[in-house]
Amino acid sequence: MRLRRKADAALTLLLATALCLLLYSQREQGPPAGSLAGGRPRMAAGPAPPPLPTRPGWGPQVVRAFPAAGAEQAAYEGDTPPPPTPSGPFDFRRYLRDKDKRRFPLLINQPQKCRGLPGGPGPDLLIAVKSVAADFERREVVRKTWGAEGEVRGARVRRVFLLGIPRGRAGAQAQEGLLRAEGLAYGDILLWAFDDTFFNLTLKEIHFLDWASAFCPDARFVFKGDDDVFVHMENLLEFVATRDPSQDLLAGDVILQARPIRARESKYYIPEGVYGLGAYPAYAGGGGFVLSGATLRRLAAACAQVELFPIDDVFLGMCLQRLRLAPEPHQAFRTFGIERPSAAPHLRTFDPCFYRELVLVHGLSAADIWLMWQMLHAVPGPDCARRRTAPKPFRWGS
Ligand SMILES: *[C@@H]1O[C@H](CO)[C@@H](O)[C@H](O)[C@H]1NC(C)=O
Repeated sequence: MRLRRKADAALTLLLATALCLLLYSQREQGPPAGSLAGGRPRMAAGPAPPPLPTRPGWGPQVVRAFPAAGAEQAAYEGDTPPPPTPSGPFDFRRYLRDKDKRRFPLLINQPQKCRGLPGGPGPDLLIAVKSVAADFERREVVRKTWGAEGEVRGARVRRVFLLGIPRGRAGAQAQEGLLRAEGLAYGDILLWAFDDTFFNLTLKEIHFLDWASAFCPDARFVFKGDDDVFVHMENLLEFVATRDPSQDLLAGDVILQARPIRARESKYYIPEGVYGLGAYPAYAGGGGFVLSGATLRRLAAACAQVELFPIDDVFLGMCLQRLRLAPEPHQAFRTFGIERPSAAPHLRTFDPCFYRELVLVHGLSAADIWLMWQMLHAVPGPDCARRRTAPKPFRWGS
């Protein structure tokens, strides 16, 4: 009897250990695929990732029942392939030589995107998502979840994806065909005639600013981000509802005093000849930030005066500096992603009560984003009440 109980206990322990190891090994397989800028903030020898909130962060404090999202059960087989990252050393000489070539034709446009909205001009929020052709699955998930167009909590929301030409990949031609079909089917594809490479993201930035100024000049606010983020749209809309779109605003995960990386082997290596100062201007992490319509129009003009710089969010910081405009830090934007606890990482990553306090989390797979959305919008909604009435510092381990 005693022996059997001992054997049972040993077996349970063994199984539990195996489970932990399994969970852990899965998470150890590196960052979620496709987190193009996932490691970006870490490149900056700047501030450490922000600490987890010790109190419920900014966000709605009332438990609300969300309507069920049109729950179409889709199956996602693994992650999408990673987006292009530079291979081999970056050719700065060539970059400097080609730097003045900064206007490329728009191959797929959505000229009606912001027109004919119910109740008058511009949308309340224009969502612009950086994507690459191969990331079809990510776009699908964004469309079905936080990036849905239409009326969200009374706000009129429109969406575009920002793409360049897929190059240097097998099937690039087929992917361009895919984009054309997608553009017709969803009306949300913007495609420019530059190579969709990591160091061309700055081109994407300036072309988007020009496009939005021309085709969506009345947007009250613009959210711009990556396709591997989760955005708590209700929280974002609640935040911008308190702001005036005719005033300057650019809010996100602000990185201060980041130092240029001088180590040649780094993906973010910047020689002194390209940027000589010891620190970059303040910038908002490119994973996602929000800006007002007024700032959008001023930025488009300011960026046109700034020399191209290969890191897109730093480049935008340079444009802001030109406007003498400081990006506004917002603690609910987590472009660093969530710190993983040391064991069983999946459990906390999928705690909807944690996500409901945030605006943005970076570095997620398509499946993560979809699952998080389903959990947050489940009826009657996650029961986070106990944690609310007994507020405890949030900790991964607790
Ligand atoms: C950016 O795109 C242009 C035009 O397609 C291309 O010539 C250039 O090599 C690209 N630059 C980088 C850094 O990838």
